[in-house]
Amino acid sequence: MRKMMELYRGKTKTLYSTDQPDLLVLEFRDDISALDGKRVDQFNRKGLINNKLNYFIMSHLQKAGIKTQIKELYSHNATLVKNLKMAPLEFVLRNRAAGSLVKRLGIKEGTALCPPVFDLFLKNDDKHDPMVNSSYCRTFGWVSSDHLSRMREITFQTNKILNTLFSEIGLILVDFKLEFGIFQNEVILGDEFSPDSARLWDQKTFHKMDKDLYRQTQVGLIEAYEEVANRLGVNLD
Ligand code: TMP
Repeated sequence: MRKMMELYRGKTKTLYSTDQPDLLVLEFRDDISALDGKRVDQFNRKGLINNKLNYFIMSHLQKAGIKTQIKELYSHNATLVKNLKMAPLEFVLRNRAAGSLVKRLGIKEGTALCPPVFDLFLKNDDKHDPMVNSSYCRTFGWVSSDHLSRMREITFQTNKILNTLFSEIGLILVDFKLEFGIFQNEVILGDEFSPDSARLWDQKTFHKMDKDLYRQTQVGLIEAYEEVANRLGVNLD
């Protein structure tokens, strides 16, 4: 499989075409960004760690019955993936209060949310990813009602599977964000699952082991990501 043209360069990942129209190369760069891209930095090895972590977690979800975009590892920092038609939406599920929920509602960080809270955001950097709901999706035609229901259902299923996975390695899955696309009229989990797009806290110490370390200008980001990978048994060589 040959990597060909750059199709899309996001804040942390780049998508390339290949010699097969149904397949793309998803490359994880060492970049990290916050504040809608106003703050950008590089961390050595972050691309490799997130690529391997994402591949491990997506494979785990796949084994549990969730269809994902991944085909196979392409290189240390890239994965061969199915070419999905992505929905312009972010599906967020929260098991504990953190981040924008704390800011918006003033709820104490760490408060358990039972049942989990589901949020939907439009992917639009210029508009700062505004919160939307199913009615907006119908009116503006971002995704069909059937596909939206399926995406929401898979988000909750993913939460169950990953809550178990992370609790077995002493981590709390605080919240996470998923993105979906359509392949041959079927909803498929796309994009990534990594500590860039999820909050993970140590069960005993409540230490943050995710991108909040960068957002809140603390140190130890790569060490924390490596620790998550090590606890999961992901080979980072
Ligand atoms: P939030 O608290 O900022 O709304 O984020 C909730 C979760 O979703 C958190 O784990 C980070 C993730 N997320 C992204 O990965 N990208 C995004 O653009 C947003 C809004 C959230």
